[in-house]
Parts: sequence; structure tokens; C-alpha cells
Amino acid sequence: MTDPLARWRRLADAAVLLDGFHALKHAVRFGAEVPVAVAVDRKAALALADELAPDVRATLDALLTEVPEATYASLVPRPHPTAVAALAVRPSREGNLRVLARMPRTAPVVVLDEPRNLGNAGAVIRLAAGFGATGVVTTGTLDPWHPTVVRGGAGLHFATAVERLTVDELPPGPVFALDPEGADIRGVRLPDDAVLAFGSERSGLSAALRARADRLVALPMRPQVSSYNLATSVAMTLYHWSATGGARAC
Ligand SMILES: C[S@@+](CC[C@H](N)C(=O)[O-])C[C@H]1O[C@@H](n2cnc3c(N)ncnc32)[C@H](O)[C@@H]1O
Repeated sequence: MTDPLARWRRLADAAVLLDGFHALKHAVRFGAEVPVAVAVDRKAALALADELAPDVRATLDALLTEVPEATYASLVPRPHPTAVAALAVRPSREGNLRVLARMPRTAPVVVLDEPRNLGNAGAVIRLAAGFGATGVVTTGTLDPWHPTVVRGGAGLHFATAVERLTVDELPPGPVFALDPEGADIRGVRLPDDAVLAFGSERSGLSAALRARADRLVALPMRPQVSSYNLATSVAMTLYHWSATGGARAC
């Protein structure tokens, strides 16, 4: 067996950093390939698994190598309170595109149109995973696999298909674009094959996305309030989908 640290250094550039126990737990649970995992206190990490994730305890037991604190600190940008870190293989773009294109779809795809904030993107991936959404697609320049997005997503990138596409490449299905000027969402049933599109934090929906939209839909909001935060808008919309008949996946 190769030295885990040598393996880490060999894989680090192409792999996805799982920062902390919870990210590792989620990634393992949702089938990520994890070639190397380290902990400063292996016993404490396994005790956490006993308490919070007995379903993946045996896998973590086989994966985790104990390393000195200084070694751990040299592998991560900023130490996590659980002092656990791992590398996972990024799912292939081809595989994700197949998942996103497959019809009939049993749960919507969330599209973030030119998002800017890495934390928002991570929070949306976590929401999409929680609601069993088919995937999260971003348009524009933000990389949805950026380490900060992965940290915000708590390892849940492996529970849904996450890719960057252009508006022309969006998956099939009716596009419901969320915009305060749209029809009140409370009167709209969002189908399971919906593509739910959200605009950027600064400027809302792009012209290209608006042109592709089948319907503009609004979240209820008092007149004096101009808009909601992007991630909370996604949360309300997915909740609406689940509460109006689309809850089979949850
Ligand atoms: C922070 S908002 C964008 C605000 C931006 N200044 C604008 O002009 O639209 C980010 C995205 O959240 C969604 N959103 C926020 N509030 C909404 C509402 N009341 N109804 C529907 N969508 C909303 C939209 O998709 C919007 O593009």
C-alpha cells in the first residue's frame, strides 16, 4: 500500500477536498470515491462516526489514517474543528450530463444563472441534495466545484449532479425562471421535470435565460422589499415543489 501522504500529494490537484468530518461523511454516504482520508485523532473521528454516522463507520474505519497535527495543517487551507480531511474523485462531466439529460425526470434541476457568491452556490447545492433535486447547473464564470463552494455544500456535491453549462446547453424540461415580476408561485404547480432558474445576486436573470424561460414565477414579497437572497429563494421554491406534490424524492 502506498504512503497516504504521498497519495494525497499525487492526487490533490485534480481531486475534491473534503474539509471536515461532515463533508467526508456525506461524500461517503452518497457514493463518492475517496482514495485518501486523514485525521489528527482517528479515535475521536470514529467516535463521531459512532454518534452521528454509524452507517459509514466501517468505511471510515478502513479509510482514515492518523497524521500529526502539523501534517494535517499542511494539507488544508484552514484547519477544521474536527481535524478530518479527505480527497474525493470529482464525478465525470459526461456522467453528470447523462444524469441531467435523462428523461423522464423525477425531480427538478436548479439553475443558478451567473451566480457570484461562492457561499450561496454551496448553500444551494446543500438544498438541492436535501430535496433530492436532479442537479445544480451554473451558467457564467463561477466554478461550482470551487473549494469554497464544496465547503459550503458540506460534501453534498456527491448527492446531486453539479455542472457548469451555457444557457444553450441547459437540460431539457420546462424552464420556470424565478423573478419578482412573475406570476405568484402559490398558483403554480412546478412539475418534476422543471428546470428552476434563479438570477444572479447583483443583476437578476440574464437576457439569455429570460429568452429561454417558459414562465416567470414570483415568490410572495411585500412591495417595499426588492428581493430575497438567492439561496433562500431556491429554498422556498424547492419547498413549494415538494409541498405541492413533488415530494416523492424526499
Ligand atoms: C438577490 S436576487 C437578485 C436581485 C437583483 N438585484 C435583481 O434585479 O433581480 C437573486 C435571485 O433570487 C430570485 N428572487 C429573489 N427574490 C425573488 C422573488 N420575490 N420572487 C422570485 N424570485 C426571487 C431571483 O431569481 C433573483 O434573480
